[in-house]
Amino acid sequence: MGLISFLITLICMLLINPLVNPAFGDETYIVQLDGIDAQLLTQSDNHLETWYHSFLPQTLASENEGRYSSRIIHSYRNVFKGFAARLSADEVSSMETKDGFVSARPEKMLSLHTTHSPNFLGLNQNMGFWKDSNYGKGVIIGVLDTGISPEHPSFSDEQMPPPPAKWKGKCEFNHTTCNNKIIGARSLITGENPYDDFGHGTHTASTAAGNFVKGANIFGNANGTAAGIAPLAHLAIYKVCSLSSCSESDVIAGMDAAIEDGVDVLSISLGTFEDNFYQDFKALGAFSAMEKGILVSASAGNIGPSNYSVLNQSPWILTVGASTTDRKIRATALLGNKQQYHGESVHHYKAETVLPLVYAGSLNESDPFAPYCYQDSLNGTDIKGKVVLCEAGGLLATEKGEAVKNSGGVAMILLNSEGYANTIQAQAHVLPATRLSYADGLKVKSYINSTSKPVATILFQGTIIGDDLAPVVAAFSSRGPNSVSPGILKPDILGPGLNILAAWPTSIENRTDTKSTFNILSGTSMSCPHLAGVAALLKSSHPDWSPAAIKSAIMTTADTVNLAHDPILDERFLPADIFSTGAGHVNPSKANDPGLVYDIQPKDYIPYLCGLNYTNRQVGFFVQGRVNCSAVSSIPDSQLNYPSFTLTFTSESTSHTYSRTVTNVGQPISSYRAEIVPPPGVDVRVEPNTLEFSELNQKIQYEVTFRRSDSAKNNTVAQGFLKWTSVEHSVRSPIAVIL
Ligand SMILES: *[C@@H]1O[C@H](CO)[C@@H](O)[C@H](O)[C@H]1NC(C)=O
Ligand SMILES: *[C@@H]1O[C@H](CO)[C@@H](O)[C@H](O)[C@H]1NC(C)=O
Ligand SMILES: *[C@@H]1O[C@H](CO)[C@@H](O)[C@H](O)[C@H]1NC(C)=O
Ligand SMILES: *[C@@H]1O[C@H](CO)[C@@H](O)[C@H](O)[C@H]1NC(C)=O
Ligand SMILES: *[C@@H]1O[C@H](CO)[C@@H](O)[C@H](O)[C@H]1NC(C)=O
Ligand SMILES: *[C@@H]1O[C@H](CO)[C@@H](O)[C@H](O)[C@H]1NC(C)=O
Ligand SMILES: *[C@@H]1O[C@H](CO)[C@@H](O)[C@H](O)[C@H]1NC(C)=O
Ligand SMILES: *[C@@H]1O[C@H](CO)[C@@H](O)[C@H](O)[C@H]1NC(C)=O
Ligand SMILES: *[C@@H]1O[C@H](CO)[C@@H](O)[C@H](O)[C@H]1NC(C)=O
Repeated sequence: MGLISFLITLICMLLINPLVNPAFGDETYIVQLDGIDAQLLTQSDNHLETWYHSFLPQTLASENEGRYSSRIIHSYRNVFKGFAARLSADEVSSMETKDGFVSARPEKMLSLHTTHSPNFLGLNQNMGFWKDSNYGKGVIIGVLDTGISPEHPSFSDEQMPPPPAKWKGKCEFNHTTCNNKIIGARSLITGENPYDDFGHGTHTASTAAGNFVKGANIFGNANGTAAGIAPLAHLAIYKVCSLSSCSESDVIAGMDAAIEDGVDVLSISLGTFEDNFYQDFKALGAFSAMEKGILVSASAGNIGPSNYSVLNQSPWILTVGASTTDRKIRATALLGNKQQYHGESVHHYKAETVLPLVYAGSLNESDPFAPYCYQDSLNGTDIKGKVVLCEAGGLLATEKGEAVKNSGGVAMILLNSEGYANTIQAQAHVLPATRLSYADGLKVKSYINSTSKPVATILFQGTIIGDDLAPVVAAFSSRGPNSVSPGILKPDILGPGLNILAAWPTSIENRTDTKSTFNILSGTSMSCPHLAGVAALLKSSHPDWSPAAIKSAIMTTADTVNLAHDPILDERFLPADIFSTGAGHVNPSKANDPGLVYDIQPKDYIPYLCGLNYTNRQVGFFVQGRVNCSAVSSIPDSQLNYPSFTLTFTSESTSHTYSRTVTNVGQPISSYRAEIVPPPGVDVRVEPNTLEFSELNQKIQYEVTFRRSDSAKNNTVAQGFLKWTSVEHSVRSPIAVIL
């Protein structure tokens, strides 16, 4: 996929940009201190603050009383011990010699990355799992994003109980108060209040836990009752981004506060490339959250379909890719040769007249940008009264529509890039428009070539439900393999992330008669809160499950086939690779009753981290204590008790054996049999191959041996699965092998 489409995919995702602030003297540094030294001090806030202040240069203390407190922007307690402060490079170097100093680096700047999806996920009002889990009642979902628009009807507290007693959060709106839906709202951005001026945070929060709103639609499309996945869960809002910018120090402060306040689930639709986990403060924050029993759902990233593009790769995070739902908002291009090509657009225009059709790329052959319909390229061309065919990429699709309209064009057909293939975003254009797949785009172009007077029109057909190819992996959804820990399969799971209708602070139709305003967005930013909602439902029906048990339940019960019962496809409509689907597509009702879970306790990650060859000190960053890797038995990452298997054969290794431990959460007396579909070229043996349980919560360990066979094709990826089946349950673990 070209750079241009890559940039477009960033729009809906908060992505840490590796560039740092240009340094005009002081800049914001994140200073990490030694957690063990901190333990020697008392745990009270005051003592920690005093200790943090002692790292700031002494000269300033005497010169300018009180300046300390204004220079510390955030004090961290939970994610790690340390703080964010405005410092000069000289001040940082004088700090480095002090006892307890670990590291200081300039913060990274971050830039910007339903009515139907509950039903698509099998959640129906007044029945089944939604009812059984009480719609997530009593569970608190923390959302780190751009804030929230609290007046939106999705955040009404009708039917909502008061916050649980453990809740310690704050409400910092300056124009309104919290209610039993939004029980906490803070801005970690200095000088701002938690109101959402952008919309992204309102959208993601309502996707996770929006209350029921009847008659939600956009331009009349996708009309229905909007609801989040856990419609009766509480929301705790942490504003860490405003408009297109988020700073790392604020994101960590949001995680730190959410852990302190007592959320149960965290939804984090932002990410960054990681070289390792110990220098990634967000991974450290997620670890601290997991230790407190908080499940962290994070977006996989919008950098697909390239390999190795997945973000949030640590095993204690639930990493969510994006897929389609079975709803289309159809706008069909009808050509002069009577051929029809189905695309999508959220508008509904009535005038459907046949008009001359022109390919923007042919308007000025010497302008390489002409096909993309930039305003500069369209200036001076004659597109008056025409339907203009534009290539996607570069600008936002809606900006292309504006450029076409400004230059006199009356309609637009937008063509997907080759990389985007069949992933079609439904967008709100300022003129009649539709967006077509790459393959259909080629056919429209060849029609134009075939005739001297090409003509076209667009037929708006509204909302159509029942695409049985769904779910299809979205082109932008980031892919594995895992670059930091190759033995852990990422992404973990797929959830709805294309053309998601959810709450929006303002009416994009400019309506003033209603607060019930919605917008359609696409991205892994949208799939992440779906899984946060599912986790909240599971937490509500199984309050004793650990984050790892919830993850396992979601992963081992995921669907691997689409509505037509064929294997899930990717954006090219080819069978999707395991590194795009992970365990498959979330099936909430099945996740509620998984039979067996692969549990992991916080301490089990220590041998895993040592096995990544991190130093004692680096492993100590996670647990905020002393670790001696020589004294714990390190394990290779593939040996972690994860609900999937990922292994690499090298020239030295022709066989790998791993053990796993399953915990019985199904029927007390039950018997499971192993069913194996080995990856081609790999022989898989399980020992024992039946598991007999006699009580609940009983644990049984088994071993799997993977052997490379002579038929194995070198340098390929092979996939298969291991499934434990009983009369009632099926517990499936995908197997990914790099040969
Ligand atoms: C609320 O805070 C914002 C700054 O985030 C400020 O612009 C606004 O005037 C404040 N409103 C009130 C009512 O104080
Ligand atoms: C949405 O559906 C409701 C209930 O079926 C109906 O009353 C309402 O008119 C519909 N709204 C639009 C804009 O189609
Ligand atoms: C990703 O890797 C797979 C398997 O190695 C390969 O077939 C595919 O072409 C790669 N995709 C991209 C986009 O590089
Ligand atoms: C065509 O594009 C070239 C390169 O951008 C530009 O210099 C030229 O002025 C354009 N021609 C017209 C007729 O607009
Ligand atoms: C249409 O014609 C142009 C110019 O002759 C050519 O470059 C292009 O490849 C053709 N496109 C198709 C889809 O046939
Ligand atoms: C809403 O108003 C803005 C600003 O006046 C305008 O640019 C936009 O086209 C309007 N949108 C609709 C859907 O009418
Ligand atoms: C850690 O070091 C061991 C021994 O040198 C090596 O076999 C292993 O591959 C390394 N692991 C990682 C994840 O780099
Ligand atoms: C770490 O453990 C090893 C093996 O038990 C021991 O020999 C060594 O002294 C320990 N190192 C520290 C710093 O405690
Ligand atoms: C595959 O790699 C293994 C180990 O490096 C080697 O022994 C074998 O000959 C290779 N097979 C082929 C078909 O190249």
